[in-house]
Amino acid sequence: MSELSVNHLLGIKYLQPEDIQLIFETADQFKEVINRPIKKVPSLRDITIANLFFENSTRTRLSFELAEKRLSADVVNFSASSSSVAKGETLIDTVNNILSMKVDMVVMRHPNPGAGIFLSKHVNAAIVNAGDGAHEHPTQALLDAYSIREKLGDVAGKKVVIVGDILHSRVALSNIFALQKLGAQVKVCGPATLIPKHIQDLGVEVELNLINALNWCDVANMLRVQNERMDIKFFPSTREYVQQYGLNKKILDRLEKEIVVMHPGPINRGVEITSDVADSNHAIILDKVENGVAVRMAVIYLLASKIKQYD
Ligand code: NCD
Repeated sequence: MSELSVNHLLGIKYLQPEDIQLIFETADQFKEVINRPIKKVPSLRDITIANLFFENSTRTRLSFELAEKRLSADVVNFSASSSSVAKGETLIDTVNNILSMKVDMVVMRHPNPGAGIFLSKHVNAAIVNAGDGAHEHPTQALLDAYSIREKLGDVAGKKVVIVGDILHSRVALSNIFALQKLGAQVKVCGPATLIPKHIQDLGVEVELNLINALNWCDVANMLRVQNERMDIKFFPSTREYVQQYGLNKKILDRLEKEIVVMHPGPINRGVEITSDVADSNHAIILDKVENGVAVRMAVIYLLASKIKQYD
């Protein structure tokens, strides 16, 4: 396979396993590029990309911007708080205004699930979903799976547990789709109130006990409790959450085998993982940030080569 089966990256759900392999192989080449003294390639000199962030972001936004600049694309940035969205403009009007400035691709983070899917049907540009509410965060899942492949050689056959607030997490859903498409086994673990009711229908098992889940897995992906998406209480107190689902060094040392610990960031140190775990050799948190740039370069490059074909 030499091109993606899709024209947009709206969610992992819409990708074939071969698409993911192609993204990984392309990312391998870009990873080599970003470790050179001159970290730039001229591939996308004729492409303009708009980054539209209607929701807060630090690393995803920087990572996309860096990826675009390392491909030599022209980049415009937009954030909702400083825009006319606050004046009541609709999403399509906002985006069409930006597109009339000859933008070829839109990278969008939006609080509403499905915002990217909606946009892809109404505007003439390649859309990359950088997180849509509690729905999907495809590039995060791609870089998580890419980092597992790098650390453990392959994703197929590996056992991955996703721990924490599964209910409100777009990282969880995208990870489940990506890991399964690549042949990994997936369990979720967290308070019963933070596990979606029919999650088993996706082919994942639920394990409420953290120690059992950790003893089973090769990789634990520790998610943040998404307080900003909660208008009621889902567990009695943070202290209780930490007691039941927080990962600390003592727990890691007592496990039957060594496991890899991941976290998408931002970390609430002392809640989902303690600092001694986050900063230990078990954790691949900062390696993932570098991989994030390479994986996003691959996604943008592959989508842009499809745009060029259709012109
Ligand atoms: C995640 C997100 O925004 O969904 N973070 C990220 O993209 N780096 C996870 C989170 O906010 O907990």
